[in-house]
Amino acid sequence: MLNAKLKEIQTSLEEKISHITGLSQLEQIRIFYLGKKGELTLLRKQIKDVLEEERPKAGQMINDVCKKVEHYLEEKKLFLLNKEREERLKNEILDVTLPAKRKQLGHQHPNQKILEEVEQFFLSIGYEIIEGPEVEYDYYNFEALNIPADHPAKDEQDTFYISDQIVLRTQTSPVQIRTMEKGRLPIRMIAPGRVFRSDEVDATHSPSFHQIEGLVVDKGITFADLKGTLIAFSQMLFGSDTQVKFRPHHFQFTEPSAEVDVSCFRCKGKGCKLCKGSGWIEILGCGMVHPNVLRACHIDPDEYSGFAFGVGLERIALLKYEIEDMRLFYENDMRFLKQF
Ligand code: DAH
Repeated sequence: MLNAKLKEIQTSLEEKISHITGLSQLEQIRIFYLGKKGELTLLRKQIKDVLEEERPKAGQMINDVCKKVEHYLEEKKLFLLNKEREERLKNEILDVTLPAKRKQLGHQHPNQKILEEVEQFFLSIGYEIIEGPEVEYDYYNFEALNIPADHPAKDEQDTFYISDQIVLRTQTSPVQIRTMEKGRLPIRMIAPGRVFRSDEVDATHSPSFHQIEGLVVDKGITFADLKGTLIAFSQMLFGSDTQVKFRPHHFQFTEPSAEVDVSCFRCKGKGCKLCKGSGWIEILGCGMVHPNVLRACHIDPDEYSGFAFGVGLERIALLKYEIEDMRLFYENDMRFLKQF
């Protein structure tokens, strides 16, 4: 009888365990057989009704089945835990062949890149970087620079007037005056900054753009110093094989004055679209500081001389990066800026 009962327990257990899908059901089964009122616990209690000489054997048989039940339950538990873990891992799968996410890095504006190159060059040969105001007196922007009251550059068509005496500076040259006025000589400086002209916006003009002014004043400065400096500067910008041409020109605040052309770095002087077929590209204006300008700053032109130059920052950036439209510089379009 006991035998049959134990057999039945075993088969029903196997049947139940095979249908189990979760750990909580497993605990219910344990309680059903081994709990306080579980089937095997009850059988144990009934041992006292069995003939005395058969009791040890009956006890042994029940114990064996109990162990089996525990073993089955443990086995199933391990199986379920394993399955759960496998499923979790499957969901967490890492594809190590996926490309990594790129961090978005900021980009420098082309103007800023050129500015840093230029500053680095002049700092390396002992120049200082000096800044001046964007809203400037007529005196510094024109008069002290030897630009007379009736000069066409003073025309309202070119200059933004704040008042009779105050303008938005049309050039960085007034920083020359402000620096010389301080009376500390010698001077080797560059002055980068924003300038303003009442120009219509188009591919090569903007009412606001940037220049870098340069000024050297010392005893015995000659046109040869100007040439040497600007040749080295041009070759730094456009490559060491760049040819440099000084073309006579006129500026009110320099005498003699020149414009600097560099051999086209694209076609090496043969003539292409960039240099409009000429093989040369104009990059800056320069000259020996006019005696009138030195005098306006209380510097004796018989004792001191100097040279000056002015470069358009956008112009250099347009050329170097072969950008065709200056408006791109001011639109802050990320697709443009990301290229630098
Ligand atoms: N200020 C001039 C301009 O805006 C550029 C320039 C030319 C600056 C010659 C200079 C110079 O210092 O010597 O067109």
